[in-house]
Amino acid sequence: MARPLNVAILGAGIGRAHLAAYLALPERFRVRYLCDRDIPRATGALLETGADPALTGLSANADEVLADPAVDIIDICLPPHLHVPMTSAALKAGKHVICEKPLASALSDVDRLAALSQETGRMVFPVFQYRYGPGLARLQALIAAGLAGKPLIASLRTHWNRDAAYYANPWRGTWAGEQGGAILGHAIHNHDILTTIFGPIRQLHAFAATRVNPIETEDCSALSLVMQSGALATSSVTLGHHDDVTDFTFCFEHLTAQSGLNPYAPADGVWTFSARGAAGNQAAIDACISALPPCPSGFAGFFTAVADQLQSIPGGAPAVTLADGQRSIELVTAIYASARSGQPVSLPLATDHPLYEGWLPTDAKDDT
Ligand SMILES: NC(=O)c1ccc[n+]([C@@H]2O[C@H](COP(=O)([O-])OP(=O)(O)OC[C@H]3O[C@@H](n4cnc5c(N)ncnc54)[C@H](O)[C@@H]3O)[C@@H](O)[C@H]2O)c1
Repeated sequence: MARPLNVAILGAGIGRAHLAAYLALPERFRVRYLCDRDIPRATGALLETGADPALTGLSANADEVLADPAVDIIDICLPPHLHVPMTSAALKAGKHVICEKPLASALSDVDRLAALSQETGRMVFPVFQYRYGPGLARLQALIAAGLAGKPLIASLRTHWNRDAAYYANPWRGTWAGEQGGAILGHAIHNHDILTTIFGPIRQLHAFAATRVNPIETEDCSALSLVMQSGALATSSVTLGHHDDVTDFTFCFEHLTAQSGLNPYAPADGVWTFSARGAAGNQAAIDACISALPPCPSGFAGFFTAVADQLQSIPGGAPAVTLADGQRSIELVTAIYASARSGQPVSLPLATDHPLYEGWLPTDAKDDT
């Protein structure tokens, strides 16, 4: 087995969940630094996760961390407006990058990152940890085994609850800091799952509104989508549900896949796979599922796939690619374009699309 990969985490908010997941994978990763300009917060994260301070150093200075030749991967858990500049800086410093969502707020930036990744020979892994877990692994195995058939229609709900306490963090709810609302910051994971299972989108019509909290960005959205396969999908997004619920129904020709309601780890919840039509299909579905090995979920699954990719270890779940990140930012761009124009939008978007350089209002500035 290859040596563990050395990681530096930038940002001690969601970064502490990343840290906990790396610590659970000691044969694959060592966390050399937890870097946050708020040192007491980073110290709290080390204490909370039980990280060994002799192995994981604290730093308030990202430049110092980038300059350490022993670091293989920079894991960016900073506010969204810092993702593109920090990913660029890390690639230029010769590091691989794991970057929290959203990767960028402009397709042009994603294209520049792709060129830089090519030039430096270093990889970028956008964070989509919701993909990892037994529910989706089972659905993917059923599709691969030919037991699903033609995709027909999907419906998904990202119905979460966010209030003033959540928006007390100054970068949230602003175009400059968060760079988008519920479409960008919350439903992005579930839309990644939609395209992972149903493939690329051909056209969409989107509506967006700010109805829950007094913020700049949207907190409700209703989407109708046509996939390249001809399958249809609807997605309902709100931050005004009384509780946090994520829910998927995927209807295929030969089976219906229904998720549980687990909001932040939908691949982990209780999924049902029900045969449609021929009576024998349920036995084949059940047999296919019971033959599958266990698989890691959430951040552990995501990081395992990253390590497998960087160390050329075959057989595991595929890592999230920069192309997946591009597809996700293209979808967000198309949603904002449709919501603003009131018109359907076809994908893929060309480089001369009016929002190719980004959807942020021109006066959006951030110094948080
Ligand atoms: N994948 C997920 O499920 C998930 C969940 C939550 C948040 N996120 C994403 O993670 C990112 C961070 O979100 P968060 O909720 O942890 O934010 P946060 O504001 O709670 O934490 C960000 C941290 O970055 C630090 N920081 C800011 N600028 C810095 C700099 N220049 N150098 C060093 N440290 C700096 C801040 O002090 C802060 O502690 C966002 O993009 C968010 O969308 C993803």
